[in-house]
Amino acid sequence: MSLEKNIKIIFENIKLENNIDFFKLWKETYKIVNPSKSLDLNNMLTAIRINKSFYLCKYFIFAKDLKGDFLECGVLKGFSSYLLRSLEDQLFKDTINNYFLIDSFEGLSDFLDEDKSLNPDIIQNKKGDLKANIEDVKVLFNQFKNVNIIKGWIPKVFESLDEKNKYKFVHIDVDLYQPTFDSLNYIYDKVVKGGIIITDDYRSPSFPGNQKAWEKYFNSKNIRSLSLPSGQAVVIKE
Ligand SMILES: C[S@@+](CC[C@H](N)C(=O)[O-])C[C@H]1O[C@@H](n2cnc3c(N)ncnc32)[C@H](O)[C@@H]1O
Repeated sequence: MSLEKNIKIIFENIKLENNIDFFKLWKETYKIVNPSKSLDLNNMLTAIRINKSFYLCKYFIFAKDLKGDFLECGVLKGFSSYLLRSLEDQLFKDTINNYFLIDSFEGLSDFLDEDKSLNPDIIQNKKGDLKANIEDVKVLFNQFKNVNIIKGWIPKVFESLDEKNKYKFVHIDVDLYQPTFDSLNYIYDKVVKGGIIITDDYRSPSFPGNQKAWEKYFNSKNIRSLSLPSGQAVVIKE
């Protein structure tokens, strides 16, 4: 039996709030963000991505009525931000939330020892990989109000954000140890009560530094985070 058939068994006809069809939203996002690629549902990475997106949508909906903005650290071509911004459009007629999308748009930063996999079978990315064109991302989000796309290296780039901003949803997807730690260090106090902090690569074999940074930060504060079945990890701010 094909993976595609299994993906359809699992994800077709899942309805989110307002009767929003999750898989339809996901496929539309894929098409818009990757106009020249055809969608391969027989690819395990695609399956993993759909699953992670489902968790992202559910936590996003959980936080939707809080007061605060959206922040994503690690945007690449804009897939996860676009998915959630489209979801927001379908949830609310008129949004008042700001979206801040932060990326170097020059790819990954330096790999530290913490980022190196001990498994020789894992082929890791390197500095400068995963680079996207900011102009393409700007075009993608043109249709939406209140989206701010900010280019720069974490943590320096945080200086372009207003210190007074409060966030209800923060997605950390910068893969590596140092920018994950620096993002947590910057955002944690600015997340509202009940707000979500979610990271993409907590159990990624290719990016072991993400989990180390996440645990170092939250263990030092005695805050419990949850490792999700999707490979992500989440903290709901208390
Ligand atoms: C896995 S991608 C993000 C994927 C994206 N969330 C999506 O849904 O497709 C990781 C991104 O983190 C960015 N990045 C990594 N280290 C960074 C740093 N120190 N400062 C800013 N951006 C960084 C890279 O440029 C890359 O675009």
